[in-house]
Amino acid sequence: ELKACIFDLDGVIVDTAVHHYKAWKRLANSLGFDFTEEQNEQLKGVSRVRSLEIILAIGNHAATAGEQEKMAAQKNDWYLELIGQMTPEDILPGAKEFVEACKVEGIKTAIGSASKNTLTILSKIGLDKHFDAIVDGNKVTKAKPDPEVFLNAAKELNVEASACVVFEDAIAGVEAANNAGMRCVGIGQPAVLTQANAVVPSLASITLNEVKYL
Ligand code: BG6
Ligand code: MG
Repeated sequence: ELKACIFDLDGVIVDTAVHHYKAWKRLANSLGFDFTEEQNEQLKGVSRVRSLEIILAIGNHAATAGEQEKMAAQKNDWYLELIGQMTPEDILPGAKEFVEACKVEGIKTAIGSASKNTLTILSKIGLDKHFDAIVDGNKVTKAKPDPEVFLNAAKELNVEASACVVFEDAIAGVEAANNAGMRCVGIGQPAVLTQANAVVPSLASITLNEVKYL
C-alpha cells in the first residue's frame, strides 16, 4: 500500500541543473580549465564536496583542504546569485500538480535532497509549504547512494519504507531508494536509470494511480 511519496529536489521538482553547471564551469574556468555539459552529468545527485573533488580531478588541479573549502564556498555564492532569479516558472512540468494530487488522496509527501540550499529554492518557487517533511543536505551525513536521506524522510513522516515511493533523476538517487527498500520512479531516460521500477520524462507523464501499482 502506498502511503508516502518522497521527491528528490534538483531535477525532479525544479530545474536547477543548469545553474549548478554554470557555477561549476565558472569555478573551473577561474582555475584555468574547462568543464563541459557532458562532464556535468557526473555531478547529478552528488554532494557539493564530492562534486568539487570530481571537478578538480577532471582539471587535474591539486588543492589543499583549505583551498577546497574556499572553492566550494565561491561556487555556492555564484550558484546563489543564479538561483536568486528563480520563480515558480522554474518548477518542472507536472511537479506541483503531482504533489497536490498526493494531498487530495491522503498520501504524505517529503523532499529528500542532498542540497543544502533546499529551503532557499523551495521558497523561491513557492513550494516551501507543500511538503509534510523536508530532509536536505543539512540534515544528513551520508550521501546518496546511502539510503539515509530517504530513511530519515520516512521516519519524519512516520511511514514504513515499504510504503514509500521515491522520485529521482540521478543514478545515485535511484540506488539510494533501492538501498532504503523503497520503490523508485526514475525521472529521465530508461537507458540511464536502469534500476528504477519505472522511468518517465517528467512528473507530468505519470499519475498517482499508476504509482500505487508499481
Ligand atoms: C543535488 C544536486 O541535489 O544537490 C547536485 O543534484 C548538488 O548537483 C547537490 O551538488 C548539493 O547541492 P548544494 O545546493 O548543497 O550545493
Ligand atoms: Mg536530482
